[in-house]
Amino acid sequence: MSSNIKLKGRGINRIITSKVMLSPLAGVTDNIFRRLVRKWAPNSLLFTEMINATSLKKGFGTQKINQIGLEEGPVGVQIFDNRPHAVSEAAKQAEDSGAFLIDINMGCPVKKIAKKGGGSALIKDRKLAIELVKNVVKAVKIPVTVKTRLGWDSKEENIEDFLFKLQDAGTTMITLHGRTRKQGFSGKSDWEMIGRLKRLLEIPVIANGDIKNPDDALNCLKQTNADGVMIGRGILGSPWKIGEIDYAIKENKNFKEPNTEEKLYLIIDHLDELIKEKGDHGLLIARKHISWTCKDFKGASNLRNKLVRAVDKNEVTNLINKMIKTLKNEKNTLALNKTNYSLNENN
Ligand SMILES: Cc1cc2nc3c(=O)[nH]c(=O)nc-3n(C[C@H](O)[C@H](O)[C@H](O)COP(=O)(O)O)c2cc1C
Repeated sequence: MSSNIKLKGRGINRIITSKVMLSPLAGVTDNIFRRLVRKWAPNSLLFTEMINATSLKKGFGTQKINQIGLEEGPVGVQIFDNRPHAVSEAAKQAEDSGAFLIDINMGCPVKKIAKKGGGSALIKDRKLAIELVKNVVKAVKIPVTVKTRLGWDSKEENIEDFLFKLQDAGTTMITLHGRTRKQGFSGKSDWEMIGRLKRLLEIPVIANGDIKNPDDALNCLKQTNADGVMIGRGILGSPWKIGEIDYAIKENKNFKEPNTEEKLYLIIDHLDELIKEKGDHGLLIARKHISWTCKDFKGASNLRNKLVRAVDKNEVTNLINKMIKTLKNEKNTLALNKTNYSLNENN
């Protein structure tokens, strides 16, 4: 199960050699987090957080785009807005910065965005959605993709027609989150419907929603026959997850999940990068990542409570080093007890 995903652009075509992608996640998939994910997933397509085209024009978010070219591996830039001209300009700026492709957000259910006609509101305003795609396709040479949902408030609203129109307008790949806008995150992602829509389209389709581990990914690929899968919430606290799933899809059994000690060192490294780039604010951003990563070992919840209250990097580092020492001591004691036990057994 390893065929590549081939994407056509107006002047530049792209090939993706991994079937697993990182979702755009606002407030999460910044360049520093993507660099972490990249350690385990060198070939996967990783998406930026959604970037607002209008604010980009005013100078906000420029940093988010400028950093793309500095990364190794394919990075898709996701743009949201309802102004065709602004979206095209943002797309061009992203292309010049080294974007692998441009994705247009047509799925975000957040009221503030949908109310202004962006994100999932484009499912209703199909004319504008098509105009956006056509404009961006004209503005850049790289492939243009769309991420959307199964409908606005019901699955009965002829989403097929919407997808056909997007395809005809020059969209080169569509990611489907298997819920409607009304569902938000409730219910289950409808992989069956994703599979039905995949069969109707000629361009690659990526399945999204409720894929958290290799088994989910393999089941979803089997059920939908999609060209790839996209992982959102499953990455929170587990930046190795895209790599882990990629290994499973490629039937490579050599994936090694980091152990507790390595996961704790990962927190320090991540914080280090955040502080280097964002100063003191880095600690605030690190807190949510810490609370997602610091779990599933003895003493995790106690440590987590202390880490998210730590006032600087020194305190975080000291707490983690102390925990690593405790874990090592426990391991040694356990090994010693085992040796004593087997010696006694032999006596
Ligand atoms: C914190 C968070 C931020 C998100 N930000 C974006 C975004 O910027 N653009 C987008 O298209 N979807 C965004 N989404 C939706 C995800 O990309 C994805 O479609 C959704 O979470 C379903 O996939 P999952 O079940 O793997 O999480 C976001 C979701 C979460 C939880």
